[in-house]
Amino acid sequence: MQTTRRRLTVMTVVAGVAIALLLLGVFAFVRAGIYNVGADDPHYPMTTSLLAQVRDASIEARARRLEAPQDLMSEERIIQGAGNYAAMCTQCHLAPGMGPTELSKGLYPAPPDLTKQTVNAAEAFWVIKHGVKASGMPAWGSSMGDEYIWNMAAFIQRLPKLDAAQYQALVAKSDGHSHGGGETTPHDHGTMPAAGGDHPHPPGTPADHHGPESAPAVGGHPHPPGRPAHHDKPAAPAPGGHAHAPGTPPHVDAPAKAPATHDHAPGTPAHVDPPGTPPHDHAPAKPGAETHSHAP
Ligand code: HEC
Repeated sequence: MQTTRRRLTVMTVVAGVAIALLLLGVFAFVRAGIYNVGADDPHYPMTTSLLAQVRDASIEARARRLEAPQDLMSEERIIQGAGNYAAMCTQCHLAPGMGPTELSKGLYPAPPDLTKQTVNAAEAFWVIKHGVKASGMPAWGSSMGDEYIWNMAAFIQRLPKLDAAQYQALVAKSDGHSHGGGETTPHDHGTMPAAGGDHPHPPGTPADHHGPESAPAVGGHPHPPGRPAHHDKPAAPAPGGHAHAPGTPPHVDAPAKAPATHDHAPGTPAHVDPPGTPPHDHAPAKPGAETHSHAP
């Protein structure tokens, strides 16, 4: 009786300590930054396989309940889907005749190359509509009606069979980016060809106007036609109204630190004003004056 009770107590203590250590380990893992969330640090093969199984089973289970439209593979749907695919998907999923992009190379999990891989239409529909958590795949259902999504699912069935010319022809026949509202047009690219690659710039625009603008001297950089000169701050009136030499880059003059007026003790020697002092005239010292003041 005695020994049984003692053994139970020992076992309880051991189990308690083990659970405490486990919780401490979990806490350390979660809070101490042990896990590397970097997209350039791949999962263990076991984790990759587990995540893929969870994803595939989840998508399959949900796609099974969907019913594709009878005329899914009609030419009309495929053509309409081509335009939206070209506008919204190629950066990640590529297109015939298009090389890898920064997004297709940098995302983890990597977006599948849909020019090489066919995805069952119902599963494609579900993934396009709902996206995939913790991956780069967005849920397009928030801005796109089901019919448009089915059209892209249909187009995806055709995509691996297309060469670059056939792909371009389908995109050209479509209405481009259209899904009944909610389309984003970041800004007008003029005659930008639908499928990635180079696009023309208005004359005088630097090749890369998406990057931070390296503004040349004041007033000197061109804007694409139709764009207001929005990012130029109005030139700050300099304190004390001093002029800037032409060609001075835009800048804000540091607020003058010197008090508006200050007194010089009589006999103050010639001196240099600290940087930031507004331009001012030293009135000629009145002979014998105790103090003199500077005009602001
Ligand atoms: C910003 C990048 C990005 C964009 C844009 C994007 N996707 Fe995806 N997509 C992904 C990623 C990443 C995955 C893989 C998710 C995963 O494996 O967990 C994915 C997965 C998919 C899949 C599932 C493939 C499979 O094997 O089950 C389909 C279909 C798909 N995307 C279609 C589209 C379509 C159509 C568009 C355009 C409307 C689009 N995607 C836009 C990143 C993107």
